[in-house]
Amino acid sequence: MPWATRKVKSARKPSAGLLPRLLVTIDGPAGSGKSTTAKQLAHALGLSYLDTGATYRTLAYAAIQQDVVITDVEQLIELARRLSLGFVTTPAGRLRVMLDGQDISQAIRTEEVSEAAAHIAQYPGVRAAMVKRQRGLARAGGFVVEGRDTGSVVFPDAPYKFFLDASPQVRAHRRQRELARLYGSKPPLAQVQEQLHFRDGLDRTRRVGALVKPRGAVTIDTSHRTVRDVVRIMQQRIRQRERRRG
Ligand code: DC
Repeated sequence: MPWATRKVKSARKPSAGLLPRLLVTIDGPAGSGKSTTAKQLAHALGLSYLDTGATYRTLAYAAIQQDVVITDVEQLIELARRLSLGFVTTPAGRLRVMLDGQDISQAIRTEEVSEAAAHIAQYPGVRAAMVKRQRGLARAGGFVVEGRDTGSVVFPDAPYKFFLDASPQVRAHRRQRELARLYGSKPPLAQVQEQLHFRDGLDRTRRVGALVKPRGAVTIDTSHRTVRDVVRIMQQRIRQRERRRG
């Protein structure tokens, strides 16, 4: 069952009056809080959640597993086309990333996979193959889609687009905490900052799908805001516009 997601079983009702086919995109650099925010917004609105970063990570992970050289663009494109990836939400509301029926949610978060994903995401052909699959999944709506180019390239006509940002210090602290959660020990902050800086450079300067603020997107600085506040701001914007649309 490739590219399937199941909706988070919401304890709350979706916001009144919202279209079930709603499409929301959330872009921003690493550590800006997109994933957590996107998950919670999807939950609050009763929508599904698509983590496009996880799709690039899965491709990188599969390439490493299958000894595909990460500079071999043709093989990467071929792999992207046949990748059997699925997203499943557990009853506890946690998103699990599946490859060939195996839970790889944790395995795709290592530094090795992060760097390989950042590398392969540079290739226009690889991006085209991935974007096609992302569109195939969420085109019908009912999704919060999160990544680096979701409002600019994947769904430029989405009715609701947000761009999250935060200071480099805050982003590095968040990434450090995430790594500590994964591995049980904190890497030095300077090392995390260097890795983030490196990845930011790749994300912002690639020829296709570079990280930009999408046209028409609402920017939210998350440096000193809680996830709850950010989600509330997004919900307010969506509700206001939905009401105006009648
Ligand atoms: O958000 P993340 O760190 O899980 O993303 C993993 C890599 O994939 C990251 O280097 C950026 C890349 N990516 C991308 O190029 N386009 C996207 N829409 C999402 C992620």
